[in-house]
Amino acid sequence: MQFSLGNTVGIDLGTTFSTIAQVNNEGTPIPIPNEDDEVETASLILLAESGHVIVGPNRNRAAIEKPENVVERIKRHMGASEFKRTFDGHEITPEFISALILKKLKQDAEKKIGDIGNAVITVPYYFNDARRKATQDAGVIAGLNVIDIINEPTAATLTYAWHRGELGVAHQKDFKPRRILIYDLGGGTFDSTLVEYTPTHFHVLATDGDVMLGGIDWNDRVLTFICDEFKEKHGIDPRDSEQMVQILRNDCDLAKIDLSRRTETVLSIRYEGKSASVRVSREKFDELTNDLLQRTIDTTDFVLEQAQLKYADLDAVVLTGGSTLMPQVPRRLKEHTGLTPYTHADLDPHTTVAKGAAIHAAILEARHRPEDTTLGERIKKMFEPIRQEDVNSHGLGIVAKDPRTQKTINHIMIPRNTTLPFSVTQTFQTNKQDQQRISVQVVEGDAPDPTACSLLGKCKITDLPVDLPQGSPVDVTYSFDKNGRISVTAKEKTGGKEAVIDIERRGALDNRQIEGFLKLASEYTVE
Ligand SMILES: Nc1ncnc2c1ncn2[C@@H]1O[C@H](COP(=O)(O)OP(=O)(O)OP(=O)(O)O)[C@@H](O)[C@H]1O
Ligand SMILES: [Mg+2]
Repeated sequence: MQFSLGNTVGIDLGTTFSTIAQVNNEGTPIPIPNEDDEVETASLILLAESGHVIVGPNRNRAAIEKPENVVERIKRHMGASEFKRTFDGHEITPEFISALILKKLKQDAEKKIGDIGNAVITVPYYFNDARRKATQDAGVIAGLNVIDIINEPTAATLTYAWHRGELGVAHQKDFKPRRILIYDLGGGTFDSTLVEYTPTHFHVLATDGDVMLGGIDWNDRVLTFICDEFKEKHGIDPRDSEQMVQILRNDCDLAKIDLSRRTETVLSIRYEGKSASVRVSREKFDELTNDLLQRTIDTTDFVLEQAQLKYADLDAVVLTGGSTLMPQVPRRLKEHTGLTPYTHADLDPHTTVAKGAAIHAAILEARHRPEDTTLGERIKKMFEPIRQEDVNSHGLGIVAKDPRTQKTINHIMIPRNTTLPFSVTQTFQTNKQDQQRISVQVVEGDAPDPTACSLLGKCKITDLPVDLPQGSPVDVTYSFDKNGRISVTAKEKTGGKEAVIDIERRGALDNRQIEGFLKLASEYTVE
């Protein structure tokens, strides 16, 4: 692991808010406030005049902007090739836009702690390979040396253990391993993860999630409700105006947050000279969003099932992500699991993940850069031996023909929730007599139908020996390294021909493009 000069930090790059944090020399993870003295910066971007962008503008400022100049929820597009946007004559990508958020966090934090060189960035557990790569690239474009990406629930677990005084060798004595469930409902994503840990060993048992489920979906339900009411009353639909939608989204977010404190809230809509006040009770809100909450519960049940555990086997349920502040979340979890979700005044759901990223960064620093760190001696000794084991969140398969049905299927080579690193070899057979070539396709996903999965890459072994009998053996090896990176080889055994699959990442940036964006980002001023 290569460290650059400068400070090492942890960054929670969120769908709606982002936070940067660092472990101080006494081992305490501390969020670093931005220029406006806030620990959270809205992941919201205003593309202003040429070469100038504003990150995290205040809500009112953003609401009056032209919709085409505002970019939000960019995390949902990470690693997805269909996103298209131009600014200043350049086609810009989700990586580049996320890099501008990172640049802002870095720039503001540097005013407080000095130069920042290295960073750990968090990703939802359920991010697939393409989304992970996009996040890493965003860091590079922002001028950061990304020493690692870490799964958000793993980061939350580190913070939880730290808060309980259970992190690092000093606490090892007579420790009975703890098993916890991290329920993370943020602005745009949901993860449910089971972790077993001792002070020096963190082991993820199982995980599942949804990268398209978060607080913004709760907001959208309120939006639909109030617009329907408005339409009923006046016969016109505020959703026909993009600007109106932008304003109402903001209002609905505030109304939802209000409902976490009060049992009723009122929203006012003014559109084309007409107005309406719509009352929303907490009860109504819970009813409008019940199926969303149920999806999180179903996912959580499935995670336990995967690990073959029952709720009674858990020591704690830990909530993280801003959306867990909705009263419906702890209430339903308590009803459903029989456990009271863990709350701690210091374990603020807004900063848990960023603090965990900072702790992970400090662990890596203690191990790989012990002589050149801001960490104190005691902390270095305490953190150095901590190890983490992850699982893969998506199955990895090969496109094969089912010998019985002759249908094309996704034959799973590495099931999801396998502890990494992991490697497996399986023998396949040629389909027909005198086959000239073999093609191997690697897919990521758990669906039996390969078209419902994402294609990671393919290869061909050509010029096979003549008259190769049908059913000749072909060995295919899949490997997952510790960081979730994938490699695949195929070998025809009779002639000994071998092929390595180049995992092409469709839509992903190549090194030249990354460099181009790095240059572009350095020319932009970010405010
Ligand atoms: N008091 C509150 N009550 C209800 N919801 C809240 C409250 N405070 C914040 N939220 C919601 O939490 C969400 C933001 O949470 P968080 O900052 O954890 O998400 P994120 O990190 O941006 O997103 P993700 O982790 O999904 O990428 C928003 O949808 C916001 O409306
Ligand atoms: Mg988050």
